[in-house]
Amino acid sequence: MSGLVKLIDLLSLGDDRGSLVALEANKTVPFDIKRVYYIFGTKAEVARGFHAHKALKQVAVCVTGSCRMVLDNGKHKETVWLDSPTKGLVIEDLVWREMHDFSPDCVLLVLASEHYDEDDYIRDYGDFLRMAE
Ligand code: TYD
Repeated sequence: MSGLVKLIDLLSLGDDRGSLVALEANKTVPFDIKRVYYIFGTKAEVARGFHAHKALKQVAVCVTGSCRMVLDNGKHKETVWLDSPTKGLVIEDLVWREMHDFSPDCVLLVLASEHYDEDDYIRDYGDFLRMAE
């Protein structure tokens, strides 16, 4: 293991009515949350991501369904299934990420440390490998 997969156990505040998970900046989520987005309705056989970020940190949770996340720091790759609404994955900067095998019902929630900024993306794998050295 190269320590790429950093999981957070999200506490489920369940009672006899059902379940609830609360995500708080600088507590459960290790940064200030500036942006939230979610990916859903992903078509069969579609893979997403294929980029890294220069500075952005993220936490990803499949609140419904599942997907397979591949993380790559330029030296090692690790795969993790996000398959529980209580399983948060911390994705640091300079990590190439790919998302595969979305279940039809998958809703992938992502909390991000910065606003959307195309300049923070590294979309070319060769550039990523050079920056990750
Ligand atoms: P994209 O980066 O292709 O998604 P992924 O890496 O998950 O496969 O994003 C799809 C589109 O949405 C693209 O046009 C950029 C836009 N977008 C925003 O405007 N704001 C955001 O916060 C994100 C994540 C994407």
